[in-house]
Amino acid sequence: MQFELQKTTDNSRARAGVITTDNGTIETPIFMPVGTAGSVKGIHTRDIKEDINAQIILGNTYHLYLRPGIDVIEKAGGLHKFNRWDRPILTDSGGFQVFSLGDIRKLSEEGARFQSHIDGSYHMFTPENVMDIQRTIGADIIMAFDECTPGDADYNYAKKSLELTQRWLERCFKQFNSTEPKYGYSQTLFPIVQGNTFTDLRKAAVANVKTFDADGYAIGGLSVGETEQEMYEMTEVCTADLPENKPRYLMGVGTPVNILEGIHRGIDMFDCVMPTRNGRNGMLFTSEGIINIRNKKWENDHSPIDENGTSFVDQYSKAYLRHLIISNEMLGAQIASQHNLAFYLWLVKTARQKIQSGDFVSWKNEMVLKLKERL
Ligand code: GUN
Repeated sequence: MQFELQKTTDNSRARAGVITTDNGTIETPIFMPVGTAGSVKGIHTRDIKEDINAQIILGNTYHLYLRPGIDVIEKAGGLHKFNRWDRPILTDSGGFQVFSLGDIRKLSEEGARFQSHIDGSYHMFTPENVMDIQRTIGADIIMAFDECTPGDADYNYAKKSLELTQRWLERCFKQFNSTEPKYGYSQTLFPIVQGNTFTDLRKAAVANVKTFDADGYAIGGLSVGETEQEMYEMTEVCTADLPENKPRYLMGVGTPVNILEGIHRGIDMFDCVMPTRNGRNGMLFTSEGIINIRNKKWENDHSPIDENGTSFVDQYSKAYLRHLIISNEMLGAQIASQHNLAFYLWLVKTARQKIQSGDFVSWKNEMVLKLKERL
């Protein structure tokens, strides 16, 4: 994998670049739709590619390992063949999902023992088997196995946890470097910076991940209960010290405003379930503000969902989408998800254009005001 930094900004850390993988290129800043179980919920790969214009999607080790199981994916020839997505894929390591299980997981030096949320069976993730699983899934970008601490963790817990994540990272690289890709294209491993909301821990975490000279670096443990201000501060602390010439990925973030503020602070890659999950519940993100389509106010609004929208689904009327969502029609969830993803991809593409033309900051400030409006 390669990263070319194409443009930086004078009054901001925002950057434009291009990532090249064997399965295609990614123009940054980029948003990556989440396909937890190998599908971006409700949306065909044709539309993810041609309508939404996504350049890379996410998969999840935890979900794919439990169902359909890694053997099935290996027999298919990897996830790209299985789900018919021929552009890059990034897989999260399972660290975050396992830690969200709460009581049904137990952590040790060795790894994380957990119970399946599907049938209660017991499993163990270790840095080693999580590398092997992601090799077999066939992701272009593989994530390190880490512990994501809750936003309200105290300093001692965050420090101990970071030290464990660092020992696990060592083991991840050892395993990754002693194994080969399975499907003829190369794979790369991104470390994850933890350290909660503590500046000294974040700085130590960045210094540690840099010693591995990876192709890219992720920032984790944010948007997990801390304040927005803390999230922005920690992002800044990390991007100040991360290498300029490598992509930075802010995991699990966020709202359209969070994404613009992240770009402003030097982030190149984002993912979040919000456009699909909130979409299914009737929350639409548009360039004029946020719409709750369930609201009675839209009952007889026969204008397009989004006049300026880039997706074909934007031509459906608000009244029709409201009817579908209220009646629990599958098509309603699909239209809302597709609209939201197309909006997120439009947002990052426009940010990239504004970085290249030198007026990112003024555009970002205007957009942030609009994006906070409730229509
Ligand atoms: N997704 C969102 N945050 C995190 C994190 O801290 N670690 C991992 N592995 N995935 C995430």
